[in-house]
Amino acid sequence: MAYSLLIRNCGQLLTLAGGPTDQPLRGPHLAGWRILENAFVACQDDKIVALGSIAELDEAQISAETKVLDAAGKVVMPGLVECHTHLVFAGNRAHEFQRKLQGESYLDILASGGGILSTVRATRAAAEDELLAIALRHLRDFRRYGITTLEAKSGYGLDKETELRLVRVARQAGRQQPVRVVPTFLGAHVVPPEYKGRPADYLDFLTREVLPELAGEADFVDIFCEEGAFSVADSRRYLQRAQQLGFGLKIHAEQLHDLGGCAMAAELGAISVDHCDYLNAADAAGVAATPTVAVLLPLVPLFLRQEKYAPGRQLIEQGVAVALSTDFNPGSCPSKNLWLALSVACLKMGFTPKEAIAAVTLNAAWALNLAPEIGSLAVGKRADLLVLDVADYQEIPYWLGENPVRNVVIGGQVQHG
Ligand code: NIG
Ligand code: FE
Repeated sequence: MAYSLLIRNCGQLLTLAGGPTDQPLRGPHLAGWRILENAFVACQDDKIVALGSIAELDEAQISAETKVLDAAGKVVMPGLVECHTHLVFAGNRAHEFQRKLQGESYLDILASGGGILSTVRATRAAAEDELLAIALRHLRDFRRYGITTLEAKSGYGLDKETELRLVRVARQAGRQQPVRVVPTFLGAHVVPPEYKGRPADYLDFLTREVLPELAGEADFVDIFCEEGAFSVADSRRYLQRAQQLGFGLKIHAEQLHDLGGCAMAAELGAISVDHCDYLNAADAAGVAATPTVAVLLPLVPLFLRQEKYAPGRQLIEQGVAVALSTDFNPGSCPSKNLWLALSVACLKMGFTPKEAIAAVTLNAAWALNLAPEIGSLAVGKRADLLVLDVADYQEIPYWLGENPVRNVVIGGQVQHG
C-alpha cells in the first residue's frame, strides 16, 4: 500500500528513538537521542511506516494519493505530550493575580477561601455544555502549540456530581477534536467546604462513592499532598485504595514544602510525581531507583513568584526520569505554552535543550504510560509529528515564548486552523 503521508526534506529529524525502548531517557547522556539529517518520515493512515535518510526513501511507495509535506530543511519532531493539565474549569482568577502581585502567597489565598476554592465555585455553577466549550477552546490552543496528547485532571468539583461531570467533559472533548485526551481523577485536590477540617472523611467518601464510578473512565488517580491540602499519611491510604481498584497513581507533591510525598508515591509505584520543587536529594535517589517519572512544572514557580525551582539538573544527574509540563490551570499557570516551559526549564532548572525536548515528548509519554505508542518517531508508532519553523533544535528553547510550530500532524492527518 502506498504512503498516505510523506514528510520529506527534514533538515533535522529528531526521532528520540535510539535508546532502550522499555524505559524513559535518563541521565545526562541521553543515549536515546537520535538526529537524522536530510531525512524523511512516511506514514500509512495513523502509523509511521518508514523513516530514514532521503537516500533510503522508496519512491515506489509514493502514489497520486500520497500527501507530500515539504519540511523545507527544518526540524521535524514528535508531537508534544502535555502530561499534566487541569483542563476543565470555569472562570479565571485574574482578580487574585493582583493579590499575588501585592505579596499574598498561594496558600494564604487558598486559606482565605479563594484560590482553588474560587474556581470550584465557578465550576460547580457552570453547565456541562459550557465546560465542554471552554475545554474545546483550550484544546484548540494547545493543538496550535503542537500538543498532540494531553492529560486532563478533574478537581474543581469536589463533589460527586461535578467531579464525574469534569471527567465526562474531558472524555467528550477528546472525542470531539483530534488531540488525544487522557483523563485523570483529582477529586482529592483540596478539602471541599462541606468536609472542612475532615480530610480523611472526604477521602473515604471519594473512595467509597466516586472511584467505583470511574472504572474505565479515568486512567489515573491524583492527589494534592501539601499543607492546606492532604497529608502524606492520608495521601498514602487514598492512593493505596485507588491502586487496589486498578487506577494508575499520580501525586502533586513537594510543590511548596518538603513533606515526603514524592518518595511515598514512588514507593507505591506511581506513574509520576509532579512539581518536586522541594524534593530533597535523598528522596530523589529513591525516585531514581523506580520507573516513576518526575514531572517538573517550571512555569508554576515563575507565576507564583517563588524563588525555588525543582532541582532539574540534579535530578537528571541522579538518574531520575524527568518530564516537563505547563500544569495549565487558572491559579498557578494560566499558560498553555509548553515551549515556554521548556525554555524556563533550561534557564532556571539547568536542562540542556536535548533534555528539555526529551522531557516534553518521550518522557512525558512515559508519565502517561503511553510510550509504546507515542513520544518518539519509529516504525509502528503513531504518526503524531510536528514540522517546526526552525532549522536547528537548539533554537527551540532560544526563541523565548515563541511558538515554533509550522505543521501539526495527528494520527497521520495534517491539521488546519
Ligand atoms: O498543580 N497545586 C495544586 N493544584 C494546581 C493548581 C490549581 C489551582 O490553583 O487552581 C497545581 O499547581
Ligand atoms: Fe497541577
